[in-house]
Amino acid sequence: MLIRSAKEDVKYVMHSREEIAARVRELGRELTEKFGDKKPLMLCVLRGAAFFFTDLCKEMDCLMDMDFISASSYFKGTKSTGTVHLVKDTDINMEGRHVIVVEDIIDSGLTLEYLVKLFQTRNPASVTTVSLLDKVVDKPERFQVDYYGFKIPDEFVIGYGLDYADYYRNLPYIGVLKEECYQ
Ligand code: IMP
Ligand code: MG
Repeated sequence: MLIRSAKEDVKYVMHSREEIAARVRELGRELTEKFGDKKPLMLCVLRGAAFFFTDLCKEMDCLMDMDFISASSYFKGTKSTGTVHLVKDTDINMEGRHVIVVEDIIDSGLTLEYLVKLFQTRNPASVTTVSLLDKVVDKPERFQVDYYGFKIPDEFVIGYGLDYADYYRNLPYIGVLKEECYQ
């Protein structure tokens, strides 16, 4: 059997599974303190946030409901093209609810900005954004996420849910892809 490894395409590991687990535990604790009495509505932005979302929800000790939405930012290669739309919405009524939107990474900020604006029209009690990664980009007017796991440099990362051309999501850590894999 010839196994096609995903790990061999990784240039280096940026955040190990242990580091991620520790940080997710901290975020879970913070969110429990803030929302533990509010029965938050946790919304996972598919597909990239899937692993982060399930791990984060398990680190929160409170009543919550969970749902999954899907946004597309028309990605071409490794850069967003700037147009966002919702591929799959939630049908849970947000009125009066504390909504927590969970993303994998914020880059241009367009996806989260779009989602927050949309959900604010549905009369929730609050909308909070959480992103595992916050890419440090030189745009002062960019949308600011409320909670983040790690700030990372402007590099294209894969793993722990994040993909390149739909592969590498299953890597257990966050890594940088080898340049030759983009060709
Ligand atoms: P934004 O709308 O530019 O903030 O981009 C957010 C979306 O782009 C994320 O949900 C990811 O799906 C994708 N994305 C941005 N940067 C990366 C990356 O480095 N690796 C994988 N996906 C990324
Ligand atoms: Mg995404």
